[in-house]
Amino acid sequence: MIVNKAIFPVAGLGTRFLPATKAQPKEMLPVVDKPLIQYAVEEAYAAGVREMIFVTGRHKRPIEDHFDMSYELEQLLEAQHKHDLLEVVRSVKPDDMECIYVRQAQALGLGHAVLCGQRLVGKEPFAVLLADDLMVGTKPVLAQMVEQFREWRASIIAVQEVPTEHTRRYGIVAGTEVNERLIDVQRIVEKPSPEAAPSRLGVAGRYILTPGVFHEIATQPRGVGGEIQLTDGIASLLRREKVFAYRYEGKRYDCGSKEGFLEANVELALAHPEIGDRFRQFLGGLKIGG
Ligand code: G1P
Repeated sequence: MIVNKAIFPVAGLGTRFLPATKAQPKEMLPVVDKPLIQYAVEEAYAAGVREMIFVTGRHKRPIEDHFDMSYELEQLLEAQHKHDLLEVVRSVKPDDMECIYVRQAQALGLGHAVLCGQRLVGKEPFAVLLADDLMVGTKPVLAQMVEQFREWRASIIAVQEVPTEHTRRYGIVAGTEVNERLIDVQRIVEKPSPEAAPSRLGVAGRYILTPGVFHEIATQPRGVGGEIQLTDGIASLLRREKVFAYRYEGKRYDCGSKEGFLEANVELALAHPEIGDRFRQFLGGLKIGG
Protein backbone atom coordinates (compact mmCIF):
# COMPACT_ATOMS: atom_id res chain seq x y z
CA MET A 1 0.00 0.00 0.00
CA ILE A 2 1.45 3.33 -0.98
CA VAL A 3 0.57 6.88 -0.02
CA ASN A 4 0.63 8.86 -3.25
CA LYS A 5 -1.45 11.91 -2.33
CA ALA A 6 -1.07 14.62 0.27
CA ILE A 7 -3.31 17.50 1.28
CA PHE A 8 -1.72 20.78 2.34
CA PRO A 9 -4.29 23.06 3.98
CA VAL A 10 -2.94 26.52 3.14
CA ALA A 11 -6.01 28.75 3.20
CA GLY A 12 -5.39 30.20 6.69
CA LEU A 13 -4.92 33.94 7.14
CA GLY A 14 -1.78 33.86 9.25
CA THR A 15 -2.89 36.65 11.56
CA ARG A 16 -0.18 35.78 14.11
CA PHE A 17 2.45 37.08 11.69
CA LEU A 18 0.88 40.38 10.73
CA PRO A 19 2.03 42.64 9.21
CA ALA A 20 4.40 40.19 7.42
CA THR A 21 1.40 38.22 6.18
CA LYS A 22 -0.73 41.17 5.13
CA ALA A 23 -0.04 40.64 1.43
CA GLN A 24 1.88 37.37 1.54
CA PRO A 25 0.81 33.85 2.53
CA LYS A 26 2.30 32.72 5.84
CA GLU A 27 3.35 29.49 4.12
CA MET A 28 5.73 31.56 1.98
CA LEU A 29 7.67 32.93 4.96
CA PRO A 30 11.24 31.67 4.54
CA VAL A 31 13.14 29.63 7.07
CA VAL A 32 16.71 30.52 6.05
CA ASP A 33 16.26 30.27 2.27
CA LYS A 34 13.18 28.16 1.65
CA PRO A 35 9.52 28.95 2.20
CA LEU A 36 7.78 26.93 4.90
CA ILE A 37 5.52 25.19 2.39
CA GLN A 38 8.51 23.86 0.49
CA TYR A 39 9.81 22.05 3.57
CA ALA A 40 6.45 20.29 3.90
CA VAL A 41 6.29 19.43 0.19
CA GLU A 42 9.86 18.08 0.24
CA GLU A 43 9.01 15.95 3.27
CA ALA A 44 5.98 14.50 1.44
CA TYR A 45 8.04 13.87 -1.69
CA ALA A 46 10.72 12.09 0.35
CA ALA A 47 7.97 9.82 1.70
CA GLY A 48 6.96 8.81 -1.83
CA VAL A 49 4.02 11.21 -2.28
CA ARG A 50 3.77 12.52 -5.85
CA GLU A 51 0.40 14.24 -5.94
CA MET A 52 0.37 17.43 -3.88
CA ILE A 53 -3.10 18.85 -3.25
CA PHE A 54 -3.10 22.42 -1.95
CA VAL A 55 -6.30 23.66 -0.35
CA THR A 56 -5.90 27.37 -0.92
CA GLY A 57 -7.85 30.57 -0.50
CA ARG A 58 -7.74 34.17 -1.64
CA HIS A 59 -4.29 35.82 -1.64
CA LYS A 60 -2.50 32.48 -2.00
CA ARG A 61 -1.33 32.91 -5.60
CA PRO A 62 2.36 33.08 -4.56
CA ILE A 63 2.16 29.42 -3.51
CA GLU A 64 0.95 28.42 -6.98
CA ASP A 65 3.63 30.56 -8.59
CA HIS A 66 6.30 29.01 -6.38
CA PHE A 67 5.53 25.49 -7.60
CA ASP A 68 5.07 26.59 -11.20
CA MET A 69 7.83 26.86 -13.79
CA SER A 70 9.46 30.28 -13.77
CA TYR A 71 10.23 30.50 -17.47
CA GLU A 72 11.88 33.94 -17.59
CA LEU A 73 14.01 33.20 -14.52
CA GLU A 74 15.18 29.88 -15.95
CA GLN A 75 16.02 31.49 -19.30
CA LEU A 76 18.02 34.20 -17.58
CA LEU A 77 19.96 31.82 -15.34
CA GLU A 78 20.68 29.61 -18.33
CA ALA A 79 21.96 32.55 -20.40
CA GLN A 80 24.18 33.59 -17.47
CA HIS A 81 25.44 30.01 -17.05
CA LYS A 82 24.35 30.02 -13.43
CA HIS A 83 23.77 26.29 -13.41
CA ASP A 84 23.78 25.88 -9.64
CA LEU A 85 20.97 28.37 -9.23
CA LEU A 86 19.12 26.87 -12.16
CA GLU A 87 19.25 23.54 -10.37
CA VAL A 88 17.92 25.14 -7.16
CA VAL A 89 15.01 26.71 -9.06
CA ARG A 90 14.14 23.55 -10.99
CA SER A 91 14.30 21.27 -7.96
CA VAL A 92 11.34 23.08 -6.36
CA LYS A 93 9.06 20.94 -8.52
CA PRO A 94 10.58 17.67 -9.74
CA ASP A 95 9.14 16.46 -13.06
CA ASP A 96 7.32 13.53 -11.51
CA MET A 97 5.51 15.69 -8.96
CA GLU A 98 2.05 17.02 -9.65
CA CYS A 99 0.53 20.04 -7.94
CA ILE A 100 -3.23 20.50 -7.79
CA TYR A 101 -5.10 23.42 -6.30
CA VAL A 102 -8.55 23.52 -4.82
CA ARG A 103 -10.13 26.51 -3.14
CA GLN A 104 -11.59 26.59 0.34
CA ALA A 105 -14.00 29.47 -0.12
CA GLN A 106 -14.82 29.84 3.58
CA ALA A 107 -12.49 29.35 6.53
CA LEU A 108 -14.58 26.72 8.30
CA GLY A 109 -11.72 24.85 9.95
CA LEU A 110 -9.07 22.21 9.34
CA GLY A 111 -11.60 19.40 8.94
CA HIS A 112 -13.43 21.41 6.31
CA ALA A 113 -10.14 22.13 4.50
CA VAL A 114 -9.35 18.41 4.35
CA LEU A 115 -12.86 17.72 3.09
CA CYS A 116 -12.21 20.12 0.20
CA GLY A 117 -9.66 17.57 -1.05
CA GLN A 118 -12.06 14.62 -0.96
CA ARG A 119 -12.82 14.45 -4.68
CA LEU A 120 -9.16 14.70 -5.59
CA VAL A 121 -8.16 12.01 -3.10
CA GLY A 122 -10.97 9.57 -3.90
CA LYS A 123 -10.76 6.20 -2.17
CA GLU A 124 -7.05 6.14 -1.39
CA PRO A 125 -5.19 6.61 1.86
CA PHE A 126 -3.64 10.08 1.95
CA ALA A 127 -1.38 12.30 4.02
CA VAL A 128 -2.14 15.69 5.57
CA LEU A 129 0.74 18.05 6.28
CA LEU A 130 0.40 21.33 8.14
CA ALA A 131 3.19 23.57 6.88
CA ASP A 132 3.25 25.55 10.14
CA ASP A 133 4.84 22.54 11.75
CA LEU A 134 8.33 22.28 10.36
CA MET A 135 9.61 18.79 11.06
CA VAL A 136 13.27 17.85 11.02
CA GLY A 137 14.32 14.23 11.36
CA THR A 138 17.28 12.17 10.20
CA LYS A 139 14.61 10.19 8.42
CA PRO A 140 11.83 12.53 7.27
CA VAL A 141 8.88 12.26 9.66
CA LEU A 142 6.26 11.46 7.01
CA ALA A 143 8.51 8.69 5.64
CA GLN A 144 8.62 7.18 9.15
CA MET A 145 4.83 7.31 9.22
CA VAL A 146 4.46 5.71 5.78
CA GLU A 147 6.53 2.79 7.10
CA GLN A 148 4.14 2.43 10.04
CA PHE A 149 1.16 2.69 7.71
CA ARG A 150 2.53 -0.14 5.54
CA GLU A 151 2.87 -2.31 8.59
CA TRP A 152 -0.44 -1.56 10.33
CA ARG A 153 -2.64 -0.54 7.38
CA ALA A 154 -4.52 1.95 9.50
CA SER A 155 -4.49 5.72 10.03
CA ILE A 156 -1.34 7.05 11.68
CA ILE A 157 -1.13 10.38 13.52
CA ALA A 158 2.14 12.00 14.58
CA VAL A 159 2.33 12.85 18.28
CA GLN A 160 4.77 14.25 20.83
CA GLU A 161 4.69 14.93 24.56
CA VAL A 162 3.56 18.49 25.24
CA PRO A 163 3.70 20.48 28.50
CA THR A 164 0.50 20.18 30.56
CA GLU A 165 -0.12 23.90 30.27
CA HIS A 166 -0.13 23.65 26.45
CA THR A 167 -2.86 21.03 25.93
CA ARG A 168 -5.19 23.78 24.70
CA ARG A 169 -3.00 24.21 21.61
CA TYR A 170 -3.28 20.62 20.36
CA GLY A 171 -5.38 17.64 19.55
CA ILE A 172 -4.65 15.27 22.46
CA VAL A 173 -4.71 11.48 22.12
CA ALA A 174 -4.87 8.67 24.65
CA GLY A 175 -4.77 4.91 24.23
CA THR A 176 -2.78 1.77 24.89
CA GLU A 177 0.88 1.41 24.10
CA VAL A 178 1.64 -1.06 21.33
CA ASN A 179 5.36 -0.45 21.51
CA GLU A 180 7.62 2.40 22.58
CA ARG A 181 6.64 4.50 19.55
CA LEU A 182 3.10 3.40 18.81
CA ILE A 183 -0.17 3.94 20.64
CA ASP A 184 -3.46 2.27 19.77
CA VAL A 185 -5.69 5.36 20.04
CA GLN A 186 -8.82 5.11 22.17
CA ARG A 187 -9.58 8.81 22.48
CA ILE A 188 -8.72 12.00 20.69
CA VAL A 189 -9.90 15.44 21.83
CA GLU A 190 -9.32 18.82 20.21
CA LYS A 191 -7.64 21.46 22.39
CA PRO A 192 -8.78 20.32 25.84
CA SER A 193 -7.99 22.24 29.02
CA PRO A 194 -5.18 20.68 31.09
CA GLU A 195 -7.81 19.31 33.52
CA ALA A 196 -9.83 17.67 30.73
CA ALA A 197 -6.85 16.39 28.72
CA PRO A 198 -6.73 12.57 28.65
CA SER A 199 -2.91 12.62 28.33
CA ARG A 200 -0.05 14.88 27.34
CA LEU A 201 0.35 13.40 23.86
CA GLY A 202 -0.24 16.25 21.44
CA VAL A 203 -0.91 15.84 17.73
CA ALA A 204 1.77 17.35 15.48
CA GLY A 205 0.71 18.44 12.01
CA ARG A 206 1.28 15.14 10.18
CA TYR A 207 -1.39 12.56 9.48
CA ILE A 208 -1.86 9.52 7.25
CA LEU A 209 -5.56 8.86 6.99
CA THR A 210 -7.81 6.31 5.39
CA PRO A 211 -10.48 7.72 3.06
CA GLY A 212 -13.22 6.69 5.52
CA VAL A 213 -12.39 9.85 7.46
CA PHE A 214 -14.10 12.04 4.84
CA HIS A 215 -17.54 10.73 5.67
CA GLU A 216 -16.83 11.22 9.38
CA ILE A 217 -15.72 14.83 8.90
CA ALA A 218 -18.70 15.58 6.68
CA THR A 219 -21.11 14.50 9.40
CA GLN A 220 -19.44 16.43 12.24
CA PRO A 221 -21.14 19.34 13.93
CA ARG A 222 -18.95 22.37 14.45
CA GLY A 223 -16.46 21.86 17.25
CA VAL A 224 -13.87 23.96 19.11
CA GLY A 225 -13.86 27.59 17.91
CA GLY A 226 -17.04 26.97 15.91
CA GLU A 227 -14.94 25.14 13.32
CA ILE A 228 -15.25 21.77 11.60
CA GLN A 229 -12.35 19.96 13.23
CA LEU A 230 -10.23 17.20 11.72
CA THR A 231 -9.74 15.86 15.25
CA ASP A 232 -13.50 15.34 15.65
CA GLY A 233 -13.61 13.46 12.34
CA ILE A 234 -10.80 11.20 13.54
CA ALA A 235 -12.63 10.68 16.87
CA SER A 236 -15.62 9.38 14.88
CA LEU A 237 -13.40 7.25 12.65
CA LEU A 238 -12.14 5.53 15.80
CA ARG A 239 -15.52 3.89 16.26
CA ARG A 240 -15.13 2.06 12.93
CA GLU A 241 -11.41 1.67 12.35
CA LYS A 242 -8.17 1.42 14.22
CA VAL A 243 -6.13 4.59 14.47
CA PHE A 244 -2.55 4.68 15.74
CA ALA A 245 -0.59 7.55 17.19
CA TYR A 246 3.10 7.52 16.37
CA ARG A 247 5.82 9.17 18.47
CA TYR A 248 7.98 10.41 15.62
CA GLU A 249 11.76 10.59 15.71
CA GLY A 250 12.83 14.15 15.13
CA LYS A 251 12.09 17.71 16.08
CA ARG A 252 9.09 19.92 15.45
CA TYR A 253 9.28 23.67 15.15
CA ASP A 254 5.98 25.43 15.67
CA CYS A 255 6.39 27.99 12.93
CA GLY A 256 2.86 29.21 13.58
CA SER A 257 4.38 31.07 16.55
CA LYS A 258 7.04 33.75 16.37
CA GLU A 259 9.29 31.94 18.86
CA GLY A 260 9.11 28.63 16.99
CA PHE A 261 9.70 30.36 13.68
CA LEU A 262 12.81 32.11 15.02
CA GLU A 263 14.11 28.90 16.62
CA ALA A 264 13.74 27.13 13.28
CA ASN A 265 15.62 29.89 11.53
CA VAL A 266 18.50 29.85 14.01
CA GLU A 267 18.87 26.05 14.15
CA LEU A 268 18.51 25.50 10.43
CA ALA A 269 20.92 28.36 9.72
CA LEU A 270 23.47 26.70 12.04
CA ALA A 271 23.06 23.44 10.11
CA HIS A 272 23.19 25.14 6.71
CA PRO A 273 26.20 23.96 4.63
CA GLU A 274 26.81 27.40 3.12
CA ILE A 275 26.32 29.79 6.03
CA GLY A 276 26.40 27.55 9.13
CA ASP A 277 29.99 28.16 10.20
CA ARG A 278 29.92 31.91 9.79
CA PHE A 279 26.54 32.13 11.51
CA ARG A 280 27.87 30.14 14.48
CA GLN A 281 30.76 32.60 14.80
CA PHE A 282 28.32 35.49 14.62
CA LEU A 283 26.13 34.02 17.36
CA GLY A 284 29.20 33.27 19.47
CA GLY A 285 30.15 36.93 19.32
CA LEU A 286 26.75 38.19 20.45
CA LYS A 287 26.49 39.59 23.94
CA ILE A 288 23.25 37.87 24.87
CA GLY A 289 21.53 39.42 27.83
CA GLY A 290 24.33 42.01 28.04
C1 G1P B 1 -4.19 21.90 14.38
C2 G1P B 1 -5.04 20.72 14.86
C3 G1P B 1 -4.51 20.21 16.20
C4 G1P B 1 -3.05 19.88 16.08
C5 G1P B 1 -2.26 21.10 15.57
C6 G1P B 1 -0.81 20.74 15.30
O1 G1P B 1 -4.44 22.99 15.23
O2 G1P B 1 -6.40 21.12 14.93
O3 G1P B 1 -5.26 19.08 16.58
O4 G1P B 1 -2.55 19.45 17.32
O5 G1P B 1 -2.82 21.58 14.33
O6 G1P B 1 -0.07 21.85 14.90
P1 G1P B 1 -4.00 24.50 14.86
O7 G1P B 1 -2.56 24.63 15.25
O8 G1P B 1 -4.20 24.65 13.37
O9 G1P B 1 -4.90 25.38 15.66
